[in-house]
Amino acid sequence: MATHKLLLLPGDGIGPEIMVEVKKIIAWLNTQGKETFETDEGLVGGAAYDAHGQAISEEDMAKAMDADAVIFGAVGGPKWDAVPYEVRPEAGLLRLRKDMELFANLRPAICYPALADASSLRKDVIEGLDILIVRELTGGVYFGEPKEIKDLGNGQKRGIDTQVYDTYEIERIAKAAFELARTRGGRVTSMEKRNVMKSGVLWNEVVTQTHKAGYEDVQLDHMLADAGGMQLVRWPKQFDVIVTDNLFGDMLSDVAAMLTGSLGMLPSASLGAPDPKTGRRKAMYEPVHGSAPDIAGTGAANPIAMIASFAMALRYSFELVAEADLVEKAIANTLDKGLRTRDISAEGDTVISTAEMGDAILAELD
Ligand code: NAI
Ligand code: MG
Repeated sequence: MATHKLLLLPGDGIGPEIMVEVKKIIAWLNTQGKETFETDEGLVGGAAYDAHGQAISEEDMAKAMDADAVIFGAVGGPKWDAVPYEVRPEAGLLRLRKDMELFANLRPAICYPALADASSLRKDVIEGLDILIVRELTGGVYFGEPKEIKDLGNGQKRGIDTQVYDTYEIERIAKAAFELARTRGGRVTSMEKRNVMKSGVLWNEVVTQTHKAGYEDVQLDHMLADAGGMQLVRWPKQFDVIVTDNLFGDMLSDVAAMLTGSLGMLPSASLGAPDPKTGRRKAMYEPVHGSAPDIAGTGAANPIAMIASFAMALRYSFELVAEADLVEKAIANTLDKGLRTRDISAEGDTVISTAEMGDAILAELD
C-alpha cells in the first residue's frame, strides 16, 4: 500500500473553509484500504503573516519541497493591503511556484452537464467539453530581461518587456503536454505566433522536434495563438490538450475556463520537472479563484474548485485515475441533484452551504 505525503496550505479568507471539505475527501480515501494519504499542514499568505510576519516560513517551504503534492487554498485580501510588498500574502504563492520550479500550469475546462445552461455560449457548443490548457509558467515575457520603463529624455518614456524562451524551457513544457495527452484524448495543439515572433519560430521548431523524439503516438497540430483564441470560442470541442507560452496561456486559459462556469468551479495544477531518480514531479494544486474576502466566514464559498483540484492531484501526482474519476463523478452527480452553492445558483434554486456541499459530495462517494 502506497503512502503519499500531502502538505495542506489552506491560506486565508475562504481558503481554510474549503480546505476542510477536501480533508473530508482525504479521510474517506484513507478508509478505502488502497492508498494512504499522510497530511501535514502549514501556514501561507495572510495566515502566515499574522502568525510570524512572513508570507511563508522557511520550515513550511521545506515541507513543500519535500511533499509529494501541495494542496493550496487561497491567499490575499484588504486586511493585508498595507503590509510590505515582500511579505504580502501573494508573495507566499509566488515563492512556492518559483522555488518548486512549477513550470507547467494545467487548467482543465470541463462542462458539467447540470451547468451546461450556465455558459454564455450555446449549450451544444460546450456540452461534453473536456479540454486541458497547459501554460508555460516560469518563462516568457513575464520574466525576460530587459524589463523596464526607460526615460528617453525627450519627454517620452519607453516600456520594455522581453519575450525570451530557451530550448530546454520549450522542450520540457512540450514533453509535459505530450505525456498529459497520452492520459486523455491523445492530441496536442501547440499555439504560438511564429508569423511575427522569433520566440514563436523557436517554439514551433522545438515542439516539432520533441514530438519526433518519442511522442509520435500523440497527434500534434500547430495553430497561431490568435486563431486559437477564436477557435476556442467557436468550437472548443475540437481541442484535447493545448500547449502554449506564459502570456498566451494566461489569456487562453482564462477564456477556456470561463467557457464553462463560475470561478468557484475551476481547479488548477502546477507541475515541476520529474525527479531524475523517482520520476515524481513537484506539484501544487489550487483553485483558480482567490480568497474571496467578501464572503469569507459566511459559509457561502463553493468548495468544488478546491475538491476538483485535489482530484487533479489524484490524477497527475498519484496516477490514481479511477479515484480521480470517482471524485469528479461525485461532483457531477451532486450538481445533477440540483444542489447549488450561492455562486452557481439560479433563481428558485435551494442554496446550500460550503459544508453541506462537501458533505453531499462525500455522500455521493459513499
Ligand atoms: P476572488 O477570486 O477571491 O473573488 C472574486 C469573486 O468571486 C468574489 O465575489 C468572490 O466572492 C467570488 N468567489 C471566488 N471564489 C469563490 C468560491 N469558491 N465560491 C463562491 N464564490 C467565490 O478574487 P478577488 O476578489 O479579485 O481577490 C481577492 C483576494 O484574493 C485578493 O487579495 C487577490 O489578490 C487574491 N487572489 C488570490 C489568488 C490565489 O490565492 N491563488 C488568486 C486570485 C486572487
Ligand atoms: Mg491571469
